[in-house]
Amino acid sequence: MAEFADDPHSHARPNEIAVGHLHLDVTVDFDEQRLTGRATFRLDRTAADADVVVLDTWDLEIRAVTDAAGAALDHVLGDHDPILGRSLTIETGGADTVVVDYATGGDARALQWLEPAQTTGERFLFTQSQPILARSWIPCQDTPAVRHPYDATVRVPPGLLAVMSAENPTERSADGVYSFAMPQPVPSYLVALAVGDLEFRPLGPRSGVYAEPAVVDAAAWEFADTEPMMEAAERLYGPYRWGRYDLLVLPPSFPYGGMENPRLTFVTPTLLAGDRSLVTVVAHELAHSWSGNLVTNATWDDIWLNEGFTVYFETRIDEELYGADYTAMLLRLGRQALEAELATLAERDTWLSLDLAHRDPESGPDLVPYEKGSLFLRMIEQVVGRERLDAFLADYFDRFAFRSMDTVTFLALLRTEVLEPAGVGDADVQLEAWVYGPGVPANAPEFPSDAFDRVDRQADALLAGTAAADLDTAGWAPQQWVHLLRVLPTDAPHAVLADLDRTFGFSAQRNIEVATAWLELAIRSEYVWGAAEVDDAVAGFLDRHGRSLYLRRVYAKLAATPRGLDRAREIFATAAAGYHPVARAGVARMLDAA
Ligand code: BES
Ligand code: ZN
Repeated sequence: MAEFADDPHSHARPNEIAVGHLHLDVTVDFDEQRLTGRATFRLDRTAADADVVVLDTWDLEIRAVTDAAGAALDHVLGDHDPILGRSLTIETGGADTVVVDYATGGDARALQWLEPAQTTGERFLFTQSQPILARSWIPCQDTPAVRHPYDATVRVPPGLLAVMSAENPTERSADGVYSFAMPQPVPSYLVALAVGDLEFRPLGPRSGVYAEPAVVDAAAWEFADTEPMMEAAERLYGPYRWGRYDLLVLPPSFPYGGMENPRLTFVTPTLLAGDRSLVTVVAHELAHSWSGNLVTNATWDDIWLNEGFTVYFETRIDEELYGADYTAMLLRLGRQALEAELATLAERDTWLSLDLAHRDPESGPDLVPYEKGSLFLRMIEQVVGRERLDAFLADYFDRFAFRSMDTVTFLALLRTEVLEPAGVGDADVQLEAWVYGPGVPANAPEFPSDAFDRVDRQADALLAGTAAADLDTAGWAPQQWVHLLRVLPTDAPHAVLADLDRTFGFSAQRNIEVATAWLELAIRSEYVWGAAEVDDAVAGFLDRHGRSLYLRRVYAKLAATPRGLDRAREIFATAAAGYHPVARAGVARMLDAA
């Protein structure tokens, strides 16, 4: 059997020669918005007679390719593929080290260069490599099936701090030169770099947070539960294997809620809600330290093995720290979001096992691997019992640590190690329907929530004529407000929505979850068109935030009507300049399809 999976999203041929180690030496040039440097690869011959190593590149300028002694090696760049970029095929001539001198191009999609106006004060650069953007800043075998340790020397303007998904400094260096080591083997999508005016605050004995000075103390307060989360995670599924776990708070244009870069999770500043209500994202990224970073999806078609497992693990951490009632709310909101997405997807994109060949993996479903994947594991848990599933998962993360996993292999393990010992057959759990079928099978678990039942009663009262001020909302969590806004019907009277906004100030709401739910309601009900302050709130939201999924949710609601689509295009025309390339492309794809 081949050691590495065939990955439709990489040119690399690791079954011939695989990269075994990377040393990166790069200079960060903010004025030219360019990285220049040298990548030195140590090669592992997977096939004894193999002589070429194939790397992925995206808009890279390849300046020289040599062996360790500096002798030029024959190499060729393939044609540009609009999804994969260009292959770089190097004749190794038997060498076990190859050295590539390169520079990034103008379309380096992994990089966002920020001006001081886009941060709290200084220039900033960050990378986002997942899923296949690493190749736009490092020539690499850009498939999650190949993993290796790396180290790096990074040269930045003095005064700025550089951090990576590696062992990190906590103090600035005088000369702007930093050295990094990631001794454990990681796939290319987990190689990450950020450069900015960063300060560090410790959170616990092996955790801390980096952020710009203006937000670092707020961040340290918000993320105070990081160490307890690590302890809960370890009790569930075994030791944390990466040494330290730090967080980096990025500027607002960071296109995700979080990104599980090993040893240094990147997070959006929208998590700084001031009430610790959004820290489940930290539990999520921390959980990836097992599901994803230790045991890694073999290809992006198997991403549910990363994300579905991680949502399951995330909500198990939440349950340990915040209790089952709180977690039930998160599970309910997850299911609602999944149902909303399912209504928009082609049927094939609703399977757990995806087929993303010949497509940009970022054009796949957003939530199916996450929420359907987590529901699948909750269903298995319900059938075989928590104890049995937990024992299996702890062993799975240990046994397959630093290896990749595909759907077929995982299902075989599940059958022989979990289902059969419990006397459960495929049909008893509708295994085939879950993994190779559309939508959510009927045996999905439900998550009763008293807190949401209370919200439902207030929603009924509101629609029956109770004034907003007379609703019983004392002590509601943000998740309850989100639920209220989601259950209100599209034909809710505009007078009711006006009363709600006046009473609860939704248009001025800064919690991104509540704000998104409100704007979606105001747009789908067309209330927005009669209320200038709500239209302003929409434009302000789309201008201020960079989280791709949340942007697309609001833009999608706008794009559903001709008037809204015009408004969406108008807002996008000015806001897009501040978006990360990933978010910009995602919104553009959606508006073009509308
Ligand atoms: N690994 C993902 C982000 C990602 C996925 C980037 C696929 C590129 C391609 C990260 O762990 C994630 O899932 N982030 C979520 C937050 C989470 C709590 C659901 C996000 O960004 O919203
Ligand atoms: Zn994730």
